[in-house]
Amino acid sequence: MTVSGIFEDRAYVTAFERNRYVAAHRAEEYAAEAIKEAPDVAHLEVLDVGAGTGQFAGPLHRAAASRSSSHQIILLDNSTEMASHLRTASAELGPSVRAVTDDFWHYRNSASDVHVTLFSESIHLLGDLDKVIAAVAGFSAPRGVLALRIATREQVHARPWYQWYPDALAIDLMRHPSKAELMKYLHDAGYDAYSREADESRVMSAHELGEMLEAQSFSALRLMDGHAFGEGVRRMRKDLRRAGDVHFDYRLTWTIARLREGNGG
Ligand SMILES: C[S@@+](CC[C@H](N)C(=O)[O-])C[C@H]1O[C@@H](n2cnc3c(N)ncnc32)[C@H](O)[C@@H]1O
Repeated sequence: MTVSGIFEDRAYVTAFERNRYVAAHRAEEYAAEAIKEAPDVAHLEVLDVGAGTGQFAGPLHRAAASRSSSHQIILLDNSTEMASHLRTASAELGPSVRAVTDDFWHYRNSASDVHVTLFSESIHLLGDLDKVIAAVAGFSAPRGVLALRIATREQVHARPWYQWYPDALAIDLMRHPSKAELMKYLHDAGYDAYSREADESRVMSAHELGEMLEAQSFSALRLMDGHAFGEGVRRMRKDLRRAGDVHFDYRLTWTIARLREGNGG
């Protein structure tokens, strides 16, 4: 299974917002923080890359509306299955929010003067992180903002559920940057950045955790070998058999980066 194949799978996409939801107050908080750092302009251009089902569409729209007299939010995703959700989100929010179905690497050729670019759990799927960040700097407006919601390699490593799926852990350790790498890539591309831990962990029943992992709600579980996945499910069921509630570790890193004077554009 390829990464793009996963996001074209209707069952995965339908279950996405249930299993991978961002709490509403969190999404509002992230969007407000990113938009607050944007340069002062009358018209604000915002790009959400790998927008998925559009969990940030409303929060970005509201934050942008309170910041500038006019704005345009582009919800970009290369999955046609995700696109139907994004079209619904944009139809509800009006003409200043637009869904675009395209690959980031193609779309970036037509992007220019973007004030805020957001990636929520998507930047690690696009290829070499330093190249993605440099590409964003290339189409950003002066003093443009890049906001990232992602688990660092350290945070991936600390998540207990990977104990049952070591191959998925190996895949994610390859794809996710360490915090130091992330900061270095941003600095090298001309950004000043700060980041903080965003703890989105929650308590759930062992049954709910088991169902979420058996449904392969994380792409690494779909990319790993099918036999090894089956073995992992067996071990997980055994371990969870008598468990009640479990703490689901979902610590992420929220990073806001702003282009230094004379960079990007
Ligand atoms: C894990 S989902 C995150 C969705 C959303 N940002 C969220 O946090 O709910 C990653 C999304 O990135 C999209 N994606 C992956 N590679 C992409 C690319 N090259 N160009 C555009 N979108 C991409 C996928 O289709 C998927 O919808």
